[in-house]
Amino acid sequence: MSKSTDICWHDSKVNKEDRRTLNGHKSCVLWFTGLSGSGKSTLATELEKELYQRRIRTYVLDGDNLRYGLNRDLGFSREERTENIRRIGELSKLFVDAGLITLCAIISPFRGDRDQVRCLFEPGEFIEIYVKCPLSECERRDPKGLYQKARAGQIQNFTGISAPYEVPDQPDMIIETDKQSVSQSVEQLLTYLREHNYIGT
Ligand code: ADX
Repeated sequence: MSKSTDICWHDSKVNKEDRRTLNGHKSCVLWFTGLSGSGKSTLATELEKELYQRRIRTYVLDGDNLRYGLNRDLGFSREERTENIRRIGELSKLFVDAGLITLCAIISPFRGDRDQVRCLFEPGEFIEIYVKCPLSECERRDPKGLYQKARAGQIQNFTGISAPYEVPDQPDMIIETDKQSVSQSVEQLLTYLREHNYIGT
């Protein structure tokens, strides 16, 4: 619900379909959810590189990166994470309207928050990708040394250690990053996008 009153919606003369036609491909959001260290950012950036080479217009929204700017006022309490996801959902809606394949790499630990984001989109525009990796493997990788800090009590509310992660009930895709290589996962994603006609062959 908006706090502002006396506002009105301005229609543009170029719409989402026009932009998609200009681009020659559909637009959608690829929402990568999973534990820290599961491989969300790696997959998003590697897939973006492949899409770019195919002349497909993209943008990566990375949870860490957004917390340097747009979301720098937010921490990791339940309420702040919910607000984080809400903002990123609204942002990705604009990017999808702009005609881009938008790749979001965000832990987004709460099912309800992710479902709220899905509600912002038309059918087929929101693709939930569960980046599945056992906690033990994420902790072994510990690319940023954060699990070690969380275990030592130096970081509070750390997802998987002292804060929950709710596994998606019905994700559109599951990628098991402990069972296959990055290039196999990227191939899995490209195949999905081709088979569902988001991109050409
Ligand atoms: S979310 O939970 O609100 O969806 P988001 O994806 O934006 O998280 O940010 C997660 C990133 O913040 C992690 O990749 C990690 O680098 C960093 N981080 C710092 N503190 C925490 C914490 N308590 N829990 C999870 N991630 C944290």
